[in-house]
Amino acid sequence: MYRTHTCGELRASHAGQTITLSGWVHRRRDHGGVAFFDLRDRSGLVQVTINPDLPKESLDLVNNVRMEWVLQIEGIVQLRPDGMKNPKMDTGEIEIIAREVKILNPSKTPPFMVSGDNDLVDENTRLKYRYLDLRRERMTRNMVLRHKVIKFMRDYLDEQGFIEIETPIMFKATPEGARDYLVPSRVYPGQFYALPQSPQQLKQLLMVAGMDKYFQIARCFRDEDLRGDRQPEFTQLDLEMSFVHRDDVLALVEDLFTKMLPAVTPHKKLLSSPWPKFSYREVLERFGSDKPDLRFGMELMDVSDVFAKSEFRVFQSTLEAGGVIKCIIAPRSADMSRKEVDALTEVAKTLGAKGMPTLAITAEGVKGSASKFVTAEEVESLKSKTGAGVGDLIIFATDERKVANKVLGGLRLWFRDKLDLADKDMMAFAWIVDFPFFAYNEENKAWESEHHPFTMPKMEDLDKFDTDPGAVASDAYDMVCNGYETASGSIRIHRRDIQMKMFQMLGMSDEEIQAKFGHMLEAFEYGAPPHGGMAPGIDRLVMLLADEPNIREVIAFPKNQAGRDVMADAPSEVEPKQLKELHIKFE
Ligand code: AMO
Repeated sequence: MYRTHTCGELRASHAGQTITLSGWVHRRRDHGGVAFFDLRDRSGLVQVTINPDLPKESLDLVNNVRMEWVLQIEGIVQLRPDGMKNPKMDTGEIEIIAREVKILNPSKTPPFMVSGDNDLVDENTRLKYRYLDLRRERMTRNMVLRHKVIKFMRDYLDEQGFIEIETPIMFKATPEGARDYLVPSRVYPGQFYALPQSPQQLKQLLMVAGMDKYFQIARCFRDEDLRGDRQPEFTQLDLEMSFVHRDDVLALVEDLFTKMLPAVTPHKKLLSSPWPKFSYREVLERFGSDKPDLRFGMELMDVSDVFAKSEFRVFQSTLEAGGVIKCIIAPRSADMSRKEVDALTEVAKTLGAKGMPTLAITAEGVKGSASKFVTAEEVESLKSKTGAGVGDLIIFATDERKVANKVLGGLRLWFRDKLDLADKDMMAFAWIVDFPFFAYNEENKAWESEHHPFTMPKMEDLDKFDTDPGAVASDAYDMVCNGYETASGSIRIHRRDIQMKMFQMLGMSDEEIQAKFGHMLEAFEYGAPPHGGMAPGIDRLVMLLADEPNIREVIAFPKNQAGRDVMADAPSEVEPKQLKELHIKFE
């Protein structure tokens, strides 16, 4: 028997018992001829004291033991003397007095200390030795949390009458706005499977199949630019329901996450219950983002009317060109240094601003780059409209509405981080609804679907398809949390004629529609039920619950920021024979 107990489970109540443990040497200390180990397994750490009365061979063996060696220890659990107890350790009231030590496997000196801090080690080194990195407490905690989140989802949905169904990984292109990963066929030269960007089509076909309520912990594959919250393969809780309207889906998902929070992360608080619901237009106007962070204020305000008669040329020309003057009020920031304001102006420029006028309200009067150009009257009216007072910095964006919103939305988040405005234990879930159905791609001069092409338009807007596509609203919805899009979904098209029309609007020829989506259109002819669903991104949610800065920290074996697996070194070249079998030649 390798062990009778795990390291982390031992408590004062085990005192006096003879036990066997197996685990890794986390740390080693030597004090006055006595060796102490912290022995570690997934459950935690326990202190092992090497009895100096052990036979000499045993003591010689122990002398060689270093960090990360795997040991088996038999010993007696003993209460630590008062004053030696360690309240910071779960097992800090006891120690194990070793009677026998066996070396199960030695270890090379690891490239970094498992007991050390993640942030002190280069990420590629951590990823190359991910199996060592995952031994660290923080990473183990993240893996356990991820497991609990997924288990909660499975149990909850099972109770609600959902069934989990697996769908193929080798399938046909399923557009979600990214490039596909392709799998060449050996048997059919020149033909490819595509890895699904999501199980979207398949879950809809399961509704046609009468499965009623489906879910899957689904792996999705997207060849797109990577970011901290994006990986080329990631995991969704994919779900779909028949005979539902939008609010049925939202109620289910809201209940799932509301109940999950106390079960998996009891220290996290919900901003509000029920969750707030905003229209797409409203969040852009108020927060400058369709994934607003609602944990703090600093909302965008339109002050165009305050400056309707302004002599300030920047304000004047913006209003004449049909633009807006909007602002945010940064608290405790009136005394921001010139250097900081310049740095912030650069941030504003990368967001699309041409400049960044400011007014600082100080006890000595109004300062800032716009102060010379505004009248005392305008300042008073600005103060009463926005509530700005002494100590505040007012930052303006003067541009067309879309650009002004984007600039201030970005600056709002900059201040959140600088002034530490957001409570990290708050989960500010909210729903965003009433998205536009189409987005116009200026570059390609074509309409694109704002969500994905299977989303149902609002029925009352159907007749605007031909006359005014930009005004068609969709039955799509997003779930956002703390500045991230954590899920999205929609009520789907279940009628062949509407689906056909949608594809045509996207500029597809009848042949193309048939070749790519003929199977969907045909399925809709066999009594497809009305249906809808959504897909929360599990990596992003676990990242937020674990207080991690990116999703790589909550994925066991992620790709690095350049999209490589640095542990196995993938992607990598393959044998010429394999390429030949696949009928592939490189240019
Ligand atoms: P969407 O493309 O919005 O919708 O994806 C749903 C959620 O998945 C997460 N997500 C990602 N997470 C990590 N890395 C990525 N590259 C990545 N891309 C997306 C986000 C996002 O909100 N089929 C639809 C869902 C539906 O309509 O039911 C879909 O996939 O959290």
